[in-house]
Amino acid sequence: MSNRFRQIERAYRLVGKLSNLYDGMMTYTTVSGKIASNLIWSLDDKKAKEYVRKALSGIPEGCAGTILEVPVGTGSLSLENYTRYPDAQVTCLDYSEEMLSAARLRAEALKLRHVSFLQGDVGALPFADNTFDCLLSINGLHAFPEKEKAFAEMARVLKPGGILCGCCYVKGENWKTDLVARTVFVQGGFFTQPFDTAESLRKRMEALYSEVSLETIEAECVFRCVK
Ligand SMILES: C[S@@+](CC[C@H](N)C(=O)[O-])C[C@H]1O[C@@H](n2cnc3c(N)ncnc32)[C@H](O)[C@@H]1O
Repeated sequence: MSNRFRQIERAYRLVGKLSNLYDGMMTYTTVSGKIASNLIWSLDDKKAKEYVRKALSGIPEGCAGTILEVPVGTGSLSLENYTRYPDAQVTCLDYSEEMLSAARLRAEALKLRHVSFLQGDVGALPFADNTFDCLLSINGLHAFPEKEKAFAEMARVLKPGGILCGCCYVKGENWKTDLVARTVFVQGGFFTQPFDTAESLRKRMEALYSEVSLETIEAECVFRCVK
């Protein structure tokens, strides 16, 4: 295992164990989470909810096909949304067993029988080409250690006409987020450089997808692409 993967494993083992703290920040629901979200991401309640809603809205209404989510993390932003797609077959993948454990518990509480979980690496997805109708990726691209492989694999497993949607951190939009990202988050093993700007992310996606739309909300870039 490379050093980058070891760092990711160690960092998210801790996050998975302290999932209440992490979830509070991601969902903007706890006092400490709101303070962190405000200070680091310049997100208020409206913006924090807006970027997640827009990222999730890339999944087509009434989707009854195959959905892959990577990385699912603790599932605090996405799992409840799958109650809207009872006829879809959802697979959630993450590298960290501890993050997956928290996600599994959440899925049980929500009685999500059509959602399954898998440990794995986005850079070597264990699926055949053209498997999924939709791929959701929330806050993963800035964390993945091998960006080129991740982008290529995500496109490979999507069916022609399939949709990639989600969001990630991009640099160059908010100096406070940039500072914390390249110091605290990179040093802690939570994020991995190099980071894209909104423009470089658009170029990457345009090389892989026939339709690309991007929007930034502070340092969060929300995307929807059609293969
Ligand atoms: C910032 S968290 C985001 C998780 C979740 N989508 C959310 O918004 O809460 C980044 C996640 O990426 C996962 N991850 C990092 N590298 C990965 C890889 N190579 N393959 C799959 N998951 C990975 C980490 O384990 C972690 O759960």
